[in-house]
Amino acid sequence: MELVFASSNQNKIKEVQAMLPPGIRLMGLTDIGITQEIPETGTTIAENAEIKARYVYDYLKNKGKEMAVLADDSGLEVKALNGAPGVYSARYAGTPKNDIANNTKLLEALNTETKREARFVTVLYLMNNNSSHIFEGEVLGTIAYEAKGNFGFGYDPLFIPRGYRSTFAELGDSIKNTISHRATAFKKCLMFLEKNTL
Ligand code: IMP
Repeated sequence: MELVFASSNQNKIKEVQAMLPPGIRLMGLTDIGITQEIPETGTTIAENAEIKARYVYDYLKNKGKEMAVLADDSGLEVKALNGAPGVYSARYAGTPKNDIANNTKLLEALNTETKREARFVTVLYLMNNNSSHIFEGEVLGTIAYEAKGNFGFGYDPLFIPRGYRSTFAELGDSIKNTISHRATAFKKCLMFLEKNTL
């Protein structure tokens, strides 16, 4: 079976393909001829995952192809900032997206705030011609007072997962990939794909 993953990030596509049960071949956006960025106009992370999946599904349907589509969207929600940067995580400090500027803005926004609880969340939206399924993963933690560590990307240098004293960027991929929001959401989706035919 072929499954379209609504991403053109080759690293992400490879990572997801490696997790899939044998028999499912993953195709990325460039494989199906989408080269433009899909507009992410949702006001929540879940909405954006659905918008991406539907965009790709409709694009294929207009070409006479009915295929199963999977889309993901993630973000960081900080309690003391009422859930910001949330759906705007990638471009929190403006466009083009810049991880260092985003981290600086987040540290400034929190300043000396002592309540620094936050969570990363991933929503996966899986759809085919007759059904859609949502899988969510989260990891709870706190925002550090300064950026630390060189692994990962995005807000990893600021995020200390619950139960650890180091940031994701210090802990590295092997720990992050067992407890992260993305890993949890994908595990749920994979369990579903192993048990169900789309
Ligand atoms: P995406 O939906 O996976 O592209 O994530 C959107 C944005 O959320 C990224 O550009 C990052 O700023 C932030 N983000 C999502 N997941 C992570 C993560 O695992 N570590 C750090 N930042 C992340």
